[in-house]
Amino acid sequence: MSQFHTLEVAKVISLTDDTVSVFFQVPEGLKETFTYQPGQYLTLKFNINGKEERRAYSLCSSPYTDNLMEVAVKRVENGIVSNHINDNLKAGDKIEVMPPQGNFILEINPNENHHYVAFSAGSGITPIMSMLKSVLAKEKKSKFTLFYGNKTKVSTIFHKELEELSKDERFNLISIYSRENTGDPLTEGRINKEKVNTLIKQDLNLLKADGFFMCGPEEMIVSVADTLKEFGVNKEKIHYELFTTPILLVKETQKPEIDFEGTAKVKVIYDDEEVELELNTKGATILDAAMEADVDVPFSCKGAVCCTCKALVTEGKAIMEANYSLSDAEVEEGYILTCQAHPVSEYVVVDYDEA
Ligand code: FES
Repeated sequence: MSQFHTLEVAKVISLTDDTVSVFFQVPEGLKETFTYQPGQYLTLKFNINGKEERRAYSLCSSPYTDNLMEVAVKRVENGIVSNHINDNLKAGDKIEVMPPQGNFILEINPNENHHYVAFSAGSGITPIMSMLKSVLAKEKKSKFTLFYGNKTKVSTIFHKELEELSKDERFNLISIYSRENTGDPLTEGRINKEKVNTLIKQDLNLLKADGFFMCGPEEMIVSVADTLKEFGVNKEKIHYELFTTPILLVKETQKPEIDFEGTAKVKVIYDDEEVELELNTKGATILDAAMEADVDVPFSCKGAVCCTCKALVTEGKAIMEANYSLSDAEVEEGYILTCQAHPVSEYVVVDYDEA
């Protein structure tokens, strides 16, 4: 159940000029609730200047090697929460935290003999870091290749930790800098289509990888995904996580046909409570309507990216304006992002408890 719990900040450490790591101590009684898989994220809730603010941050700790849960937070220009965390957060502070969520997961299986390839840039390293540490610790026969783009060495989050981890011969780290001279054109510049093309041609074995994981700016994700597909990589093997609402990927979202317009009855089930709402097909989203009716439903980004607001439609139909986080299979099963969903049948039952 996606409820907030109060966690204590164990420590805050500075990673670079504009990024800190925040470590949480999970009390014994909440250990099970806060179990997570590599790649998942936490939603943090703050009250800043009298206003509630929620943000999702990927866990960079590994559930297999780290006792404390860790998120790394990079300052965003004018970012209310990221600047608050960087400027004010300290050990001992109590924060409202939602249990780990998210579909961008690398499932660890100690018997696997896999090769994983990751592309990341800037703060997109956070979920990848959790995956990498987990694979190296638990899948003793697997290999991991990471292409990691940054401006310079000093601005690179986890630069030292990655260098340390790369002492393990199963981990191949390729750092690419856009504002640093490396002496090799291949590792200078940005991770764009041309660069990915060249990198792959240099080592065609990369294409045989069992899974590709990308996290970073949308342009990078699109460039890598397109190039991999052009090289014939099955799209089932390509996984990515967006931190912001996309622009380039919007084209892919399809609108299904609508067979009902008008005011629908929507039953919302959350935490074993049921509330019935009247909601116009062209009105507010199901999430906003439920909040308006005082149901404390979960949400974070409200931008179709994080999937915190996921629920199952168990009766009737609802459509989403956008979806950048649910898989095709989940949509097929009836899952929706309620922050994007509107009813399109006379009666709809939306169950958050099934998410
Ligand atoms: S709140 Fe993030 S997808 Fe709906």
